[in-house]
Amino acid sequence: MALPLTAAFRDTMSATHSDSGALKAALATALDSATCTIRTMALVTRSAGFAASKVQQARIFLADCSERLGVPEPKGPFKFELVGDVLMVPEHALIEDVWNVPSVWAALAAIFGAGRVARKAKIDSGLLRQSCVLMLYPALGRPDTTGPGSPGWVTVVENKLPFSFDITRVMFCSGNVTERMRAARHPVKDEVIVDLYCGIGYYTVPFLAHGHAAFVHACEWNEDSVLSLRENLRNAHGGDVSGRCTVYQGDNRLTVEQHPGLHDAADRVSLGLLPSSVEGWPLAVRCLKPTGGVLHIHENVDERQRTQWLGDTCREFERLFAAAGKPMTAQCFHLEKVKSYAPHIDHVVADVRMTPTP
Ligand SMILES: C[S@@+](CC[C@H](N)C(=O)[O-])C[C@H]1O[C@@H](n2cnc3c(N)ncnc32)[C@H](O)[C@@H]1O
Repeated sequence: MALPLTAAFRDTMSATHSDSGALKAALATALDSATCTIRTMALVTRSAGFAASKVQQARIFLADCSERLGVPEPKGPFKFELVGDVLMVPEHALIEDVWNVPSVWAALAAIFGAGRVARKAKIDSGLLRQSCVLMLYPALGRPDTTGPGSPGWVTVVENKLPFSFDITRVMFCSGNVTERMRAARHPVKDEVIVDLYCGIGYYTVPFLAHGHAAFVHACEWNEDSVLSLRENLRNAHGGDVSGRCTVYQGDNRLTVEQHPGLHDAADRVSLGLLPSSVEGWPLAVRCLKPTGGVLHIHENVDERQRTQWLGDTCREFERLFAAAGKPMTAQCFHLEKVKSYAPHIDHVVADVRMTPTP
């Protein structure tokens, strides 16, 4: 197995101005040594009939560098993740100065076949749920520019659909992929849908491109997400679907109020807000057709109180619809556990059908 490491290391080493001369030299030796070790290991494992995983290669590389540089081996476990062509380094890994040089990031990127490296970070707790990811290589920090071609702009392909976004501005949640795949299978053909919390279009785009929904009204107040959403609607698998979507940029509590076209208009409403979508429930009541329809209600729920939560939620929707002069019965026909959020707390989605009461 030929690993394209040495060339990548040397190129980056010569292009690196921030490394001090002595560190550069030490690192160059360490990187070369690590490359050799990885090559040898690859040969040994290949002749033994198995290949060293990329994570194993990264570990060997870091261990070799540590030994050569006389610094402690970085403590694992490492959970590297690839988002498009960006290698995501865990938030608290490799934070010591010795690792924070372009040549190290270039080497790790080469191992994983990535072009760029960024450091993961918790989503900010603000209302816009912005990303706090910082670029490590080749760009540094949070770039000033955004949009296609900018340093933080990435594209991931899910279920044949390209989703592009700025990884330094918009959150990406790999754990929700099962729910996004499920959304693409909902029977939405010819339906009108309101996506109250559409983000970059993880549900909106599949509803249109895979489900052939007639129209989606998509609400989002984060301008970086809206920029991505518009791009993702244009580049959907099978062609541009933006003609079947209106994007409402702003607080949905205002936009729903201000746009009568959203009232009594939807066959289906998606309520994808965490930890709770409860603030959007009156909006969903406003948007659903008087003839009824389906709600996808997201919530972080204590697994020990799931049945109670579901009953309470259905009763509360019946109360809200009655108060709005559209009396309906709520029936949950599916409860999906998306992922574990914290001990005992799960992100769940309740699929609830609202049917007018005679
Ligand atoms: C948890 S994200 C979900 C995005 C998308 N549904 C998904 O699963 O990928 C919630 C989104 O709702 C947006 N949001 C939250 N409150 C909002 C409001 N009142 N009006 C419009 N957008 C809102 C946030 O900016 C964020 O993009």
